[in-house]
Amino acid sequence: MKEFKGKVLVVTGGGSGVGEAIAKEGALRGMKIVVNDIDAPAVDRVVNELHEMGVEAVGQKADISLLENVEGLLKLTLDTFGQVDMLVNNAGVSVSGPIWEIPVQDIQWITEVNMMSHLYGMHVFIPQMIQQGTEAVIINTESTAGLMTSGNAVMYHATKFAGLGASEGTYLALKNRGLGRIQVHCLVPAFVKTGIHLADTHRPERYAINDDPYYQGQEFKSGYIRSERQVTAGIPIDYVGTCVFTAVEDEKFYIFTHPESQVVAGMRIQNLVNGKNPQ
Ligand SMILES: NC(=O)c1ccc[n+]([C@@H]2O[C@H](COP(=O)([O-])OP(=O)(O)OC[C@H]3O[C@@H](n4cnc5c(N)ncnc54)[C@H](O)[C@@H]3O)[C@@H](O)[C@H]2O)c1
Repeated sequence: MKEFKGKVLVVTGGGSGVGEAIAKEGALRGMKIVVNDIDAPAVDRVVNELHEMGVEAVGQKADISLLENVEGLLKLTLDTFGQVDMLVNNAGVSVSGPIWEIPVQDIQWITEVNMMSHLYGMHVFIPQMIQQGTEAVIINTESTAGLMTSGNAVMYHATKFAGLGASEGTYLALKNRGLGRIQVHCLVPAFVKTGIHLADTHRPERYAINDDPYYQGQEFKSGYIRSERQVTAGIPIDYVGTCVFTAVEDEKFYIFTHPESQVVAGMRIQNLVNGKNPQ
């Protein structure tokens, strides 16, 4: 896609960070914007700022990890703007810690937000894009954590690897069926200065921090400190929006914000090819 003016962009988790940056870059290019986020004040703020930019925008304050809210997001988009041209499955949270120590509810929470919401997004929006018969774009915000592993955030890696598999597979499935006019992209940033280390403040009620002793323990606290250090040392957000739209214009499936991510991914693949164990 090279022309964006007048087209409709939907961003999940658009109330801050990467999602907000993509929404605002779309706005600068003349798009109409639909912002979803579980954080209601954040939706109001971003929608107000988009209006101040002179852009048509509407918000959905909802937990996008629930299928009915993804269906509701499509309905809101069609009721408001009559079409959808670009969907960014971006909502995401971070959970660190070993798989055998973290509470089961955290395995469920991160899987539902990082993986299920992205799968539901493609499942619900692609039929509409096919029916429209026009060019369309799906961007899944995954991560360099889907290209390599570390021992610190097993569930984050697991959900981001799943996102890469689903994105690559969907890209091929569309192409193989002569539907290549629906472009799929995978955004794979390394650390970006956002609020992702504060993900615990975006838990849905059903996954609220409870009296599980894990939440009082050292592992949980260390995970937060590690995550805060990494994220605050990340690249500034400013460059991410342009980077995404340039890749869409150039039809680059992988959207890299950090060149070093390719080196790290290459090292992992080289290990695999050589039959070496994970490093
Ligand atoms: N910041 C980084 O270093 C980094 C690196 C690689 C990938 N990413 C990915 O970028 C995406 C955006 O993260 P970010 O860094 O901008 O963090 P962020 O916390 O600033 O933004 C995430 C947004 O998602 C929203 N959200 C969380 N759960 C939700 C739910 N159930 N329903 C709807 N909205 C929900 C949050 O309220 C928040 O506004 C995520 O998928 C993340 O994994 C971030």
